[in-house]
Amino acid sequence: MFVNVDPAIAAARYRAIGDSLAEGVVVFDAGGDVLACNARAEAMLGMTEEQMLGRHVDGSCWRLLGEDGAPLPAAKRPDRVSLQTGQVLTGVVIGLQRGDGGIAWLSVSTAPWALDDSPTMAGVVATLLDITEQKLATESLLESEQRFRQAFDNAPVGMAIYSPDGRLLSVNPWLCRMMGYSEAELRTLSPEQCTPPADLARELSLHGQLLRGELSSVSFEKTLICRDGLRLVVRKNLSVVRNALARPVKLIGQIEDISGLKEAQSAAFSRSLVAAQEAERKRIAHELHDEIGQSLTALKITLGRARKVVSEPSAQESLDHAQWIISSLMNEIRGIAHRLRPPELDQLGLTATLRTYLEKTLRAGDVKISFTSDVGDARFSPDIELCCFRVTQEAATNCLRHAAARRFEVELRLESERLSLTIRDDGAGFDLAAQKDSGSLGLIGMRERVKAVGGKLVINSCPRLGTEILARFPIRFFTGVPIAGASS
Ligand SMILES: Nc1ncnc2c1ncn2[C@@H]1O[C@H](COP(=O)(O)OP(=O)(O)O)[C@@H](O)[C@H]1O
Ligand SMILES: [Mg+2]
Repeated sequence: MFVNVDPAIAAARYRAIGDSLAEGVVVFDAGGDVLACNARAEAMLGMTEEQMLGRHVDGSCWRLLGEDGAPLPAAKRPDRVSLQTGQVLTGVVIGLQRGDGGIAWLSVSTAPWALDDSPTMAGVVATLLDITEQKLATESLLESEQRFRQAFDNAPVGMAIYSPDGRLLSVNPWLCRMMGYSEAELRTLSPEQCTPPADLARELSLHGQLLRGELSSVSFEKTLICRDGLRLVVRKNLSVVRNALARPVKLIGQIEDISGLKEAQSAAFSRSLVAAQEAERKRIAHELHDEIGQSLTALKITLGRARKVVSEPSAQESLDHAQWIISSLMNEIRGIAHRLRPPELDQLGLTATLRTYLEKTLRAGDVKISFTSDVGDARFSPDIELCCFRVTQEAATNCLRHAAARRFEVELRLESERLSLTIRDDGAGFDLAAQKDSGSLGLIGMRERVKAVGGKLVINSCPRLGTEILARFPIRFFTGVPIAGASS
């Protein structure tokens, strides 16, 4: 290229070319001594060309590190390896410990060079590229990925990563535990296996909106089907991760089991319904007793006075009959008021109230009653006592109405941590599954009431084999006296 040019001019041109490069260039002779370097190499290596000239590659002027941060033995330095083997090396990452303690990271490529037409190697050219910023960025990316992975693995909430086409790429241990599957099993499940069709359609449409950028993140409730068939109500938060070109690369989902919360909400709702119903019953019972009861009493007294002044025998007979009707009406109303809200429940407690109620209600029929209680005079929170009474009341009414039973048994027991109420009849029984959709409110009301006070209700029944109702209530111990449930 520079034929017949003054050597000084040629050298100046070469220097101009060398110094314009973004890479550092160091030229070694065959013995490993530095012959030349460009300005960029001077800056990278922290020495002037003059200081470097004649320095041997084995010299200890640079403290070099391998990519792993450990000191780099001289024999492994790329310039040295190229000198010894004649090999071309590219992109060897080495660290250069700077005087200020920092490290400059270089990507070094080395290649042998030879004089024109000479078969022997004249030395090695090393090209140095400063990759410090790139390496630090990669390290901080790795660190943040590690932090994300730790949060992902230890999160007390289910987490999943999906590809943009909806494939499950990764799930965390919490989600595996929540659903009862191993990670490998979860990854092979189809979306239809863990989400009911209606929820799946809605979720897929939200995925689409996220991927198209119409939403930046979404939060919705859905049902999740677990390995054992159990259905959980979960809240799922989904967000999309995009690359530098704004293309979606993955979706990150957070899945929180809110079944407990839903149950608590539904128990609270049942509680308020039951409370409203009880308040209304109490009001009607008082009105029947105070308003209608008093008016009937006044009417009876008035008729009695009239009876005294009337001499006509047929009129007397009519007035006697009217008084008799009023007396039966008063009894009837007293009975209704009593059923609406038995006053002895507050005064005498559960055992005495249940015994009186069962005797009065079932005495009329042919049913043999058995009532056993080992709770004695123990008092429980008013809502539990009322719940036990209402469950027994509904069961006794059902027994009279539907069972044609010969025996009706009620058992009240104080177990170590609960109050248990068991009611059995030996009557017609019924098909529980078939009855579920019938819309009858008695059994539903029983369940709601028991749930509202934090208890559990199990109904066992079979056609011709009778019916058994088991209600269990939690007991809170209070100053040595067992109190079932929380007083309210
Ligand atoms: N002890 C029982 N013996 C036989 N059948 C019963 C008994 N309890 C309930 N059933 C059946 O279950 C149905 C629903 O009961 P329930 O919810 O109390 O409604 P209702 O008493 O108003 O019909 C009844 O109609 C009856 O067929
Ligand atoms: Mg009923």
